[in-house]
Amino acid sequence: MTSKIAIFASGSGSNAENIIHYFSGNPKFEFPVILSNKSDAFVHERAKKLQIPSFTFSREQFIAGEEILLSLKNYNIDYIILAGFLLKVPEVLVKAFPDKIINIHPALLPKYGGKGMYGDNVHKAVKAAGETESGITIHYVNEQYDEGNIILQTKCALTDDDTPETIAHKVHALEYEHFPKAIEMIWG
Ligand code: GRF
Repeated sequence: MTSKIAIFASGSGSNAENIIHYFSGNPKFEFPVILSNKSDAFVHERAKKLQIPSFTFSREQFIAGEEILLSLKNYNIDYIILAGFLLKVPEVLVKAFPDKIINIHPALLPKYGGKGMYGDNVHKAVKAAGETESGITIHYVNEQYDEGNIILQTKCALTDDDTPETIAHKVHALEYEHFPKAIEMIWG
């Protein structure tokens, strides 16, 4: 059985690329398509290099869900990964893929989650609060932002010298190490 996984990304897509590299040559996993809500997201360049089709949809198309579902069906998609994807997943998609959508959040949920808590905003908030640790949370996606059941959390220590940039760096390193392994664990 091969797990066919669609990746949704809104930005750079370094996690998407890392995941695809990790599973290359592994017949149990396929990544047939990358979807984005941003036509200028760098993830499209990465997709081109990786020879994986990538498409952009509008916010309206995403909320309506039908075209997205059709496209996922055309690629026989079993599971969805959100890797730096910024829109809230509509109910229609959550219902069509129950417990089959996962997200990575660049902090230790339930802290620093919810609307507006993405990318640098998260790391700035962590710094402003003087946290001594941060980390990643990989979780199932439900209809609420960042509230689905947690699959895995890993931590990194922070010092007074850390800046939002260095925190982002530490968190990204955790993401690259643990996101592919979490996928392998649940869908392998
Ligand atoms: C990651 O830190 C992810 O946790 C967050 O957005 C960032 C995406 O980075 N949700 P990239 O696009 O994978 O480089």
